[in-house]
Amino acid sequence: MGDSADVMFVDGVRTPFGRAGEKGMYWNTRADDLVVKAMIGLMERNPNVPKDRVDDVAIAATTQQGDQGLTLGRTAAILAGLPKSVPGFAIDRMCAGAMTSVTTLGSGIGFGAYDVVLAGGVEHMGRHPMGFGADPNPRFLSERLVGEDALNMGKTAERIHDRFPALTKERSDRFGMLSQHKVAAAYAAGKLQPDLIPVALRSEAGWGLATQDEGMRPETTMEGLATLRTPFRPHGRVTAGNASPLTDGATVSLLAGNDAVKEFGLKPKMRMVTFGFAGVDPEIMGLGPIPSTEKALRKAGLSIDDIGLFELNEAFAIQVLSFLDHFGIDDDDPRVNQWGGAIAIGHPLAASGVRLMIQLAAQFAEHPEVRYGLTAMCVGLGQGGSVIWENTNWNGKA
Ligand SMILES: CC(C)(COP(=O)(O)OP(=O)(O)OC[C@H]1O[C@@H](n2cnc3c(N)ncnc32)[C@H](O)[C@@H]1OP(=O)(O)O)[C@@H](O)C(=O)NCCC(=O)NCCS
Repeated sequence: MGDSADVMFVDGVRTPFGRAGEKGMYWNTRADDLVVKAMIGLMERNPNVPKDRVDDVAIAATTQQGDQGLTLGRTAAILAGLPKSVPGFAIDRMCAGAMTSVTTLGSGIGFGAYDVVLAGGVEHMGRHPMGFGADPNPRFLSERLVGEDALNMGKTAERIHDRFPALTKERSDRFGMLSQHKVAAAYAAGKLQPDLIPVALRSEAGWGLATQDEGMRPETTMEGLATLRTPFRPHGRVTAGNASPLTDGATVSLLAGNDAVKEFGLKPKMRMVTFGFAGVDPEIMGLGPIPSTEKALRKAGLSIDDIGLFELNEAFAIQVLSFLDHFGIDDDDPRVNQWGGAIAIGHPLAASGVRLMIQLAAQFAEHPEVRYGLTAMCVGLGQGGSVIWENTNWNGKA
């Protein structure tokens, strides 16, 4: 029986994220090829890890059909050139898919059953529109288990605006605008590029190379945002400017236990402290990260004040604002989403959890005075997921 181990986040990479749809850069690229590309890139930059020592591969997708079907962890591993002795499987917790890949395989490391694993996710929302082919049980509505708004994420965001009138559209717009500006600044400073694996593209115009996120709108202004339609409700508050866009992309991370870290001479970027998932009413799914974070903090014996860096998935600005408001954190607190978030970068559902971890790990390296960080996100049908991480660069002074 293996000994229990610390769960170390060794490395993580992602493809540049593309705008979903016919005009998006990945329209002619298969979803599984996005994962494969990221997986090859991750193994190439970690040559010390023998491929045949990868104990398992978990890849998440929300819509597990077509090029996102067929047990992605297994198919992607074979396509990425891992030996056929390496097993793999697929995971689904909608938006928290990749996060659940990490917590599931990380738990296996902690238990002592795995030494090295690959955990990630993909969503090609162009080829697999949200809810496509789904057949929700009619009991959900006939027995009023959930309200009609529960299955439309934008409507759930409008509901959070209803609940917290102090969190105005203007505050949501401002949060959306700042996300765009922060991502632009992070790109200009070269913060995000090191963890992107370029993807070759084929279109009618010929071959190309995706090297950066496609959905960014650095020129965003409050005046521009004020004019946008509110697609989820007449005279609503949620717009394309304060919501994450429909996105294509993939992420993969490499996790290892302490013995494997020693054996292969790895330099882990962070240690998993603990995690929590929680459920809330599906009509207000965006509040999910509040109880999941409270749960994770409780298990870790930490308080919110111990968290020095936050990577919160910006499914909708209002949903992040409700989290910040709950914990008494300012809308523009510099600890939160330093390099912007999903409103500007995009949110390819089941891929996003590992993007948060990649960015947190890179910020940890720049902030040795910070000991703990949080990655958290909301999940469709009323859930939240939170993972607390410890900075391996912590200098012990804070
Ligand atoms: C909000 C949403 C419906 C918008 O979709 P869309 O209309 O296809 O989005 P677009 O990118 O075409 O933007 C709509 C318009 O707003 C404009 N716009 C978007 N962001 C802008 C910005 N930051 N500044 C100025 N204009 C902006 C676009 O230019 C476009 O204008 P046009 O109609 O004149 O071309 C879609 O992004 C969505 O559903 N998001 C949520 C996804 C989701 O639920 N994820 C799961 C979370 S749990």
